[in-house]
Amino acid sequence: MGRYDEIFAKSVSDPESFWDAAAEAIDWQKKWDKVLDDSDPPFYRWYVGGELNTCHNALDRHVEKGRADQIAMIYDSPVTNTIERISYRELRDRVAVFAGGLKNLGVGKGDTVVIYMPMIPEAAVAMLACARLGAVHSVVFGGFAPNELAIRIDHSKPRVIVSASGGIEGKKIIEYKPLLDEAIDLAGHKPEKCVIYQRPNIKASLKTDRDLDWQDMTTKAAPVDCVPVQATDPLYILYTSGTTGLPKGVLRDNGGHAVALQWSMENIYDVRPGDVFWAASDVGWVVGHSYIVYAPLFMGCTTVLYEGKPVGTPDPGAFWRVISQHGVRVLFTAPTAFRAIKKEDPDGHHCKQYDLSNFKYLFLAGERLDPDTYHWASRILQRPVIDHWWQTETGWPIASNCMGIEQFPIKPGSPTKAVPGYDVRILDDNGKELGSHAEGSVVIKLPLPPGTLQTLWKADEKFVTSYMSHFEGYYHTSDGGYMDEDGYLFIMGRIDDVINIAGHRLSTGAMEEVVATHADVAECAVFGTADKLKGELPVGLVVLKAGVETDPEEIKQDLVRMVRKQIGPIACYKETAVVKRLPKTRSGKILRGTMRAIANGKEYRMPSTIDDPVTLEEITDSLKGLGYPKS
Ligand code: COA
Ligand code: AMP
Repeated sequence: MGRYDEIFAKSVSDPESFWDAAAEAIDWQKKWDKVLDDSDPPFYRWYVGGELNTCHNALDRHVEKGRADQIAMIYDSPVTNTIERISYRELRDRVAVFAGGLKNLGVGKGDTVVIYMPMIPEAAVAMLACARLGAVHSVVFGGFAPNELAIRIDHSKPRVIVSASGGIEGKKIIEYKPLLDEAIDLAGHKPEKCVIYQRPNIKASLKTDRDLDWQDMTTKAAPVDCVPVQATDPLYILYTSGTTGLPKGVLRDNGGHAVALQWSMENIYDVRPGDVFWAASDVGWVVGHSYIVYAPLFMGCTTVLYEGKPVGTPDPGAFWRVISQHGVRVLFTAPTAFRAIKKEDPDGHHCKQYDLSNFKYLFLAGERLDPDTYHWASRILQRPVIDHWWQTETGWPIASNCMGIEQFPIKPGSPTKAVPGYDVRILDDNGKELGSHAEGSVVIKLPLPPGTLQTLWKADEKFVTSYMSHFEGYYHTSDGGYMDEDGYLFIMGRIDDVINIAGHRLSTGAMEEVVATHADVAECAVFGTADKLKGELPVGLVVLKAGVETDPEEIKQDLVRMVRKQIGPIACYKETAVVKRLPKTRSGKILRGTMRAIANGKEYRMPSTIDDPVTLEEITDSLKGLGYPKS
């Protein structure tokens, strides 16, 4: 039995003793009474009775144990020409003072705080300050429109919102404050206060009764200590796209999260305290929460917070420059970033100009790693390129080649094997386990390991119906896939209406809800189509109301504007075809899967339940008009 097999077997046969041992790597104010409380499935609780503080584990303990002067965070911002190195001591001090400021505003244990920030260190400071107080943060990605922010404000009901005057997206300046003001106007719930970080060159106007300047607030604040919380208390809510316009608020606890992330750093990413770890993502996504902020700091690493793009800031050598300049050991990003670099620098000329001697591994996740991109990245880097699979819900990888345990040969197209703690199975529609190579629903046998979602914020029932009730005793990942004879997992894509655009998860259902509100639209379908750069892009088909005389081009432009305004630019909604009718089953279900197959040039079987086969020919023609299939 190899090392991986041994560790994996222990993690699933005796999870309690496995995670009992792993928890020793974390500082506890009070040790847990029980490792796993499984008395109320599917609501499992880890480290019941234990008390700790997440911020203490990320910062204070390192300051106290000899890492005070080590760099905790490198802020590298090619868009502002800034490189700032912040030591553990300084980061701890900044967080303690900002937490003091929040406390003065009445923020305490259990209160929620929304954070709507660009990629600046203050975003991480705000998150850690909430953790220090035992408050629950909910970070909203900057690329979401005011309406999406308003939905999250109404659901999480923050006492305070922390934001900044603006963000810089490549060459564009995005003013955040007007977006925030609009979101608060739209929301039913009004925060008591907003704390605004004024960036140089982007000035926001503040509302005197509600808004506070970050600098003013912190000058008047005194540092505060970490507040111990229960292991099972919430650390954060992170909204993620579901199949409708209402996002799901994934709830993370404190104890399980700290243990799992710390364990993952050593065992999956093979890093040690002092190593430089860089997740090129955004704090608004789960990758940013787990691997820009929390995990590298739990581990005593130096984390890189990068405010730039893989290309254009200033060139496709940006990633190699950062790796070389800061001595990065591990880079984690989404395949789409590599496709963007490959497009501009196919022969990897830029890469050759930098010394990458400290660079050990490239980890990719967020979407399927297509074999072309895998081979290209491996060729130009000459280092292991590790595909690993996970979700906002799990918070850390479900499947990976675990570099700190045992390195397996890579099979392109596969994120290798289940990570210890995750008992992954493939089931057919009746819940029967499938043998190797048979494609089905990818599920995880309960209990999920520590660090995974506890429930959905204020929606226990939705948690059960969304994830736990498809197959009793299993968590439903909503991904389809199969396992081969060696236990390698192949994730083939979502089996719901969620699509992956440039590694970002978006709901076509939410886009449909927006498109359907256009006054001239009778009905519509939005689905994902394959895209060479971004993985997937949405396309909409609309049926107009009888008698509409508006120019269809005008309607199409309206739809682009509406989706941008309601969901955000990140939805990348650009293409619409006007059709006479949509293909449906006799019971009225729209055949989105069949349309997607047509758009992607894939073979499809005429559904036996189709109402009128002629519509498929019409759809094929309309999609051809948009240039589909594209490759
Ligand atoms: N705030 C405001 N707007 C944002 C934003 C943010 N934080 N992030 C993206 N946007 C906007 C973009 O400016 C763009 O707007 P536009 O339509 O006006 O041009 C739109 O949202 C789409 O953004 P994106 O899909 O990121 O496209 P892009 O062309 O700007 O960049 C890539 C393409 C591939 C370079 C980029 O997606 C990338 O770097 N991806 C890396 C992967 C990643 O970080 N994944 C996260 C999960 S690991
Ligand atoms: P998110 O919650 O935004 O992290 O998106 C999670 C979804 O992204 C998963 O359900 C998968 O569909 C997809 N995904 C993430 N990583 C991978 C991967 N390595 N391979 C295939 N799909 C992935």
